[in-house]
Amino acid sequence: MTNIILCGGSGTRLWPVSRTLMPKQFVKLFDNRSLFQLTVERNAKLCESQFIVSNAEQYFLALDQLEELPHTDTEYLLEPVGRNTAPAIALACMALDPEEIVLVTPSDHLIKDREAYSKVIEQAQRLAFEDHLVTFGITPKYAETGFGYIEAEGLDVKAFHEKPDSQTAQMYLDAGNYYWNSGMFCFKAGIFLEELKKYASSIHEASQTAFENAAKEEMIRIKHDDMLSILEESIDYAVMEKSDRVKVVPADIGWSDLGSFDALYEELDKDQNGNTLNPNHVSIGSKNNLIYGNERKIATVDIEDTIIVDTGDALLISKKGSSQKVKEVVAEIRKNT
Ligand code: GDD
Ligand code: MG
Repeated sequence: MTNIILCGGSGTRLWPVSRTLMPKQFVKLFDNRSLFQLTVERNAKLCESQFIVSNAEQYFLALDQLEELPHTDTEYLLEPVGRNTAPAIALACMALDPEEIVLVTPSDHLIKDREAYSKVIEQAQRLAFEDHLVTFGITPKYAETGFGYIEAEGLDVKAFHEKPDSQTAQMYLDAGNYYWNSGMFCFKAGIFLEELKKYASSIHEASQTAFENAAKEEMIRIKHDDMLSILEESIDYAVMEKSDRVKVVPADIGWSDLGSFDALYEELDKDQNGNTLNPNHVSIGSKNNLIYGNERKIATVDIEDTIIVDTGDALLISKKGSSQKVKEVVAEIRKNT
């Protein structure tokens, strides 16, 4: 099995920790390991090789961070511009044997229960072997609109719904037979390409051309114009919503996509007052805060339910529960620069 690792996004909701030049997956958030490194470690135990699909800037970050880990057989495919996940996965699959089973994983998620994870992946591998496109179902906790929902009947998928509006999401939550899609997938490279050709033939065709024209030396480099001519679409819309080969494996694996500081707060270790552990934090009567920053002392007096993120050149202060709006901060800054 080959692990296709997707490194594309920049995670604007974790600004100022996550930056264009230092995206979320490369930030060392847990035990001096980045989410990218944790992804590699977790999957190196289950896969013989890995295939990293990223843009040119992230290539060097990935290289540096891989050097801190035990050696894994690695191939790279570099995209001059991102065209979302359907093309990224297609291009990687084109470089592999059609019979090869691939485990597609984002590089910026947290999975805390590795033992359960290994079991779930084995189950997925068996289904992928029978020519299914396997998704991983997370029991939903609230009516999130930023995720895909899997309507399940046992391991069968009745329908896949990418990013519903909030009313629909609430309906799915109440119904009880819907999972969140984790954003990880398992299938044979050739089966995915067949389904892509069937349901998004223009993406398949343009990706094929781009792959054939690519420079293939120590890594695969797609040409700029070829990449631009591929339609921008996610695997979820292009294939998962349409294919009838989709299966779901329930995945109780301690999963979080860390999409916001509120989500990060839930995952970090905290002291008896509910403040995240930080040797630079001086707390006087403060409770339930996320305090991030390792450059200078951060003192809080009677502060509660607050997110404080200090990176030296930028300071974020947000009410807990509002951290989804941090992406608006980034939009505002980009507008003014
Ligand atoms: N190489 C590459 N190129 N990677 C990309 C690109 C690209 O153009 N676009 C996105 N990625 C990577 C991101 O870095 C991330 O690791 C992963 O692919 C998924 O992309 P997101 O942009 O984070 O997708 P999403 O969060 O909107 O939705 C997906 O994940 C949800 C769970 O977190 C979907 O699969 C949803 O259905 C799912 O619920
Ligand atoms: Mg995401």
